[in-house]
Amino acid sequence: MKPVKIGMLGLGTVGCGTVNVLARNGQEITRRAGREIKIVQACARDLSKIRPCSMEGIQLVSDPHQVVRNPEIEVIVELIGGYELARTLVLEAIANGKHVVTANKALIAIYGNEIFALAQKKKVMVAFEAAVAGGIPIIKSVREGLAGNRIEWLAGIINGTSNYILTQMRDKGADFSDALKEAQRLGFAEADPAYDVEGIDATHKLAILAAIAFGIPLKCEQAYTEGITKITRMDVQYAEKLGYRLKLLGIARRTNGGVELRVHPTLIPERRLIANVDGAMNAVLVKGDAVGPTLFYGAGAGAEPTASAIVADLVDVVRTLTVDPNSRVPHLAFQPDALVDMPILPIEEVETSYYLRLHAIDRPGVLADVTRILADLGISIESILQKEPNVGEVAVPVIILTQRVKEKNMNEAIARIEKLDSIKDRVARIRLEHLNCEWV
Ligand code: HSE
Repeated sequence: MKPVKIGMLGLGTVGCGTVNVLARNGQEITRRAGREIKIVQACARDLSKIRPCSMEGIQLVSDPHQVVRNPEIEVIVELIGGYELARTLVLEAIANGKHVVTANKALIAIYGNEIFALAQKKKVMVAFEAAVAGGIPIIKSVREGLAGNRIEWLAGIINGTSNYILTQMRDKGADFSDALKEAQRLGFAEADPAYDVEGIDATHKLAILAAIAFGIPLKCEQAYTEGITKITRMDVQYAEKLGYRLKLLGIARRTNGGVELRVHPTLIPERRLIANVDGAMNAVLVKGDAVGPTLFYGAGAGAEPTASAIVADLVDVVRTLTVDPNSRVPHLAFQPDALVDMPILPIEEVETSYYLRLHAIDRPGVLADVTRILADLGISIESILQKEPNVGEVAVPVIILTQRVKEKNMNEAIARIEKLDSIKDRVARIRLEHLNCEWV
């Protein structure tokens, strides 16, 4: 059989990783796919750059349109990232009848509904395993391996840069900015690291996971997003002393009122396996009604882990080239006409537990005022801890852990507490999830 010809858009770190994996494991990949997978053309901005991969048999061009219009090419691998140019090229490739494999989470999260609709019309595949959690086969696992389940919720550490920063703050007492610089040096931060530390990258990935878990359209713009930029070392250390770890979690959960879709710093009990996912590693905890809790762990970024997902998608595409398009696995796991438009819950309606840190004057009655406000708003306290005052200060840090309460009640409680004369500064608030599931 003739090889399947591939065109690549972008030949940076991940592109070269893909070339290398295809070259090194070519024979086994052919045995799996049934046909050789051959990259024949790639576009890159700098044609003269020395790359850490062999360019043998690959024609390098500077115009990406040349690749998506090349009649020889059956599958396009999109690795240029970003929004508009990637969207234009992917839509053009699909219109030209080409299948697409992409690692671009922003593209799928924002334009996925449009891209999948065109792909369905043109009877081509758009595969995006590499877009979420790098090398972890989480898309395939949720879409196919867990297809017998009603997925109840999922929670993931899906941004390696943020996880690396939080780990450095905890283990080494590092400053936020130093840890970020190191993540950039190691090469897993986005081109604009605000995407990592402001939670945007994680929100893109979460929107994709929620769509395939619940059979809903992509609704990235309705998700709640809060990054890690306001996290202090003090909170990381207090949380640790209370038996909790701080992680940037993406959480998607079905409730009677709608779907929770939220990314924010979250305290989780240290005994949970996912609380021990450190450095730039990723993990996704998926709770299905039949299987129970499952945990997927691995590298969320990097040249070859991401290439692992891209090549697996290429194998999938090649295996099903001749299959009736209606019999292929649907892009979003559920048949396109069976997607259900469930509402996304506004964050004010979400229920969670909280860690609060107050800076309170150390005198009788102060805690009574605070607990009265919490009681008036129906907020139960799980524990209270008063720390030593810092040298020369009359105010002391007070940590309160609460039971589950709606965010709007907590907002009101914090507003009232901040008005007390005895409370200095703003109240620090971090959401806390027990992720109740035995042994995981
Ligand atoms: N910047 C991303 C991360 C890379 O830190 O996880 C993979 O999407």
